[in-house]
Amino acid sequence: MKILVTGGAGFIGANFIYYLLDKYPDYEIVVLDNLTYAGNYDTLKDALKSPNFKFFKGDISDRVYIYDLFEYEKFDIVVNFAAESHVDRSIKNPEIFIKTNVLGTNVLLDASLKYSIKRYHQVSTDEVYGDLPIDRKDLFFTEETPIHASSPYSASKASSDLLTYAYFRTYNLPITISRCSNNYGRYQFPEKFIPLMITRALNDESIPVYGKGENIRDWLYVEDHCSAIDAIIHQGKIGETYNIGGHNEITNLELVKIVLKELDKPESLITFVKDRLGHDLRYAIDNTKINTELNWFPKYTFEEGIKITIKWYLANIIWLEKILNGEYKEYYESMYKNR
Ligand code: NAD
Ligand code: DAU
Repeated sequence: MKILVTGGAGFIGANFIYYLLDKYPDYEIVVLDNLTYAGNYDTLKDALKSPNFKFFKGDISDRVYIYDLFEYEKFDIVVNFAAESHVDRSIKNPEIFIKTNVLGTNVLLDASLKYSIKRYHQVSTDEVYGDLPIDRKDLFFTEETPIHASSPYSASKASSDLLTYAYFRTYNLPITISRCSNNYGRYQFPEKFIPLMITRALNDESIPVYGKGENIRDWLYVEDHCSAIDAIIHQGKIGETYNIGGHNEITNLELVKIVLKELDKPESLITFVKDRLGHDLRYAIDNTKINTELNWFPKYTFEEGIKITIKWYLANIIWLEKILNGEYKEYYESMYKNR
């Protein structure tokens, strides 16, 4: 089996590569990633030692390059993680989100059709459903919830989901789609809330909490997302969408307090700042379909996952510092100085 993983130098993609190398030592695994600010070649340094692993630097929206790659490599499965993934960046500059997430997905779908890929899997997000009210804990996103995206990021992901499904319905391309809640774990770029707060707390810097910190996310440990995608690409029904979530709903303020306590840092670091535009209130996933049809359940509780994650960042300060010494300071300044 030969599998192409796009975006494999990013957070979830890289975790998926290590998951695959461990579970399927006989698979040939190829990463395609154009190493944007979020892609990190260093993260793959152990994978590069494996004889069944290959890395290509390239852009999913470059049609000529992608067709060449598919022509020569002859993949069986394509898993598309490659994306612009940060909501705040999409609010500042939507264009690149359309190019990568929509046009890039379109090129991969065309290539998958042209080269008769056996399974194309689109990694999507619960954000395509929009949000749920904070005071209606009885409501959850199911696969039947209408698409109602709020940010340019989620609108671009919703567009790529619709295109993916259309390639199944129109051309019989064997696709599956997964929509997962917020992930956390090793290798996450510190623009996202959990690694951002760990990084800042370690330096005794203030932690920016948007609005009143009341927004709720449903956190899932990244390895559980990897095992869910594994179940979907191997046993999932063609043409189907599967939600993936952890039933770990928590407000942003509660989350910061837990992390500060783990790090033995004071709550006085918490600083309330101007809210995100169009900020989604609450995400909560109904897991019933993947539980019952694929017998998938998360392995990690939030308490276990967050401890492992914090321990990993503490043990991998060099990985973090390489990022913090690059363009990251400029990014932080431009995003947070007027908040
Ligand atoms: P990430 O930003 O950490 O990584 C994205 C990767 O894609 C990077 O390595 C980047 O270099 C690469 N990339 C970007 N544009 C590319 C292009 N044009 N061509 C080739 N490679 C390109 O993202 P992540 O958090 O690992 O998310 C991966 C996927 O999972 C995304 O599709 C995202 O929408 C989805 N997702 C993320 C979460 C989450 O909580 N992080 C939850 C659900 C779904
Ligand atoms: O739900 C899945 C999605 O989760 C993925 O599709 C996205 O790729 C991923 O980035 C994530 O989106 P969020 O916007 O939920 O994640 P983020 O880490 O940016 O923010 C989590 C919450 O924390 C959100 O309510 C905003 C808030 N926040 C975030 C940052 C960066 C703050 O309060 N302060 C911050 O500095």
